[in-house]
Amino acid sequence: MKKKWWHNSVVYQIYPRSFNDSNGDGVGDLRGIINKLDHVKELGADVIWLSPVYKSPMKDNGYDISDYQAIEPVFGTMEDMDELIKEADNRGIKIVMDLVVNHTSDQHEWFKESRKSKDNPYRDYYIWRDEEDTNDIASVFSGPTWKWDEEAGQYYFHLFADEQPDLNWENPKVQEEIHKMINWWLEKGIGGFRLDVIDLIGKEVDKKITGNGPRLHPLIKQMNKETFGNYDVLTVGETWGATPEIAMMYSAPEREEFSMIFQFEHMVIDWDQDHGKWKPHTFDFVKLKEILSKWQVGLKGKGWNSLFWNNHDLPRIVSRWGNDKEYRYESATALATILHGMQGTPYVFQGEEIGMTNVKYDSLKDYNDVEIHGAYQEKVLENKVLSEEEFMVGVYQNGRDNARTPIQWNEKEHGGFTTGTPWLKVNQNYLEVNVEADKASEKSVFNYYKNLISIRKSDAYSDLIVYGDYEAIDLSHQSLFAYKRINDEREILVVVNFSEEELNYSFDGNIKEVLASNYNKEYDSLSDLVLLPYESLIVELN
Ligand code: GLC
Repeated sequence: MKKKWWHNSVVYQIYPRSFNDSNGDGVGDLRGIINKLDHVKELGADVIWLSPVYKSPMKDNGYDISDYQAIEPVFGTMEDMDELIKEADNRGIKIVMDLVVNHTSDQHEWFKESRKSKDNPYRDYYIWRDEEDTNDIASVFSGPTWKWDEEAGQYYFHLFADEQPDLNWENPKVQEEIHKMINWWLEKGIGGFRLDVIDLIGKEVDKKITGNGPRLHPLIKQMNKETFGNYDVLTVGETWGATPEIAMMYSAPEREEFSMIFQFEHMVIDWDQDHGKWKPHTFDFVKLKEILSKWQVGLKGKGWNSLFWNNHDLPRIVSRWGNDKEYRYESATALATILHGMQGTPYVFQGEEIGMTNVKYDSLKDYNDVEIHGAYQEKVLENKVLSEEEFMVGVYQNGRDNARTPIQWNEKEHGGFTTGTPWLKVNQNYLEVNVEADKASEKSVFNYYKNLISIRKSDAYSDLIVYGDYEAIDLSHQSLFAYKRINDEREILVVVNFSEEELNYSFDGNIKEVLASNYNKEYDSLSDLVLLPYESLIVELN
């Protein structure tokens, strides 16, 4: 496979509302990000995925865009954006913009025009039908996908919130407008795009096809050809429900679509068949290993995958599958070890690098997320399929606001995130869990991540970790996660005791060098190891 710069990158995701507030209005902003770029640099990431900062009424916190070529005032100005790109570049960091083109906000000029009349030039920018032509596809944020619009005298289609009408990708004018906008951003010198729910743009609503529609890949190929294919940038498609076979369609280099995909097969294994994330099940560790290993082997040499545990839509991994109490440091670093030795491009979501945890607000009113409130309405109030208590269990475990609480920088009020009142309450554990305290601690999650990233980026191990073969060890073991990475020159062994019990285990081979150990241990031999709770190590073998 031809080498690409982003094969060896580490991406840091910033959710701007919650990262750092520079002007005391309680909402994070671009200047706040500029002020903290050295944090990202120190970690060792070389790409920032910036969740949307475009003009938006914030129904879905920026994933509802009303102007693709303007910055939302709460985040700053276009000058701030240009400065961010420049300041990041000075530190060797590229900015990847979040491209939300499945839908816009209902406040976008296109939609305002579109709803005016049937013969408006923008009418076909969106999907309008009379009642008899609408069918019952469910919206991701609950309720029906078709919404009656008084002014338009028709129903429009929206896969997400009512205020997020879907663009009509069958219209060549929509394609052209979007391509033009993408090129405008590329000319600014950004490092690429993360393409929000891009698997939905090939939809055919009259046939009830939404994801992976027949028109999807031709549309992406066209987009590539007209826009980012002419630049050396990173493009990552958010693709729910992808298999390794589907992943190749998006990311095989010869197909000229995206650099890589961001797929979720490993992230939904504890969700319920009927109630999804709102009714979490016990997590099956062996299944997790099988899935991650399947992707390692299945995509090798054929396509490219992202490696992640977290993003702004997922709960905090240390609370979800680790132990965020007695073993917060140990389990956070164990989870990091599992991913960072694998092939793919690692993504670190803000706060993950200090082991931030889920939040538990007493009242539903403290939650901001449109998805949480939509699901509550549907599952608890209307259909009564979950009780209030059951639903709150789901929110505590999987609600998206778990990831969106402000970053805890220090022990000042509101974790030093803002001098005002934060838009979403800070997690009460900020005195104990914050960037300053973590970096100063002997058990620093940040320093452990930093080490993992520096190994991946080192001259000695980069080739092996980025391109080497993957060999899973003892896949059916109930608490051991172990694998080797091998190339012609070197071999490393990654070992994680993913449990709170001691684990006795022997591996073949001799240690040449210990690269990482979350108990700071020296290891002489690999036989008769007694691994402590969540003990993790990476060693080079002789
Ligand atoms: C993606 C985003 C999510 C958003 C949705 C609609 O899944 O990651 O935050 O709500 O798309 O844009």
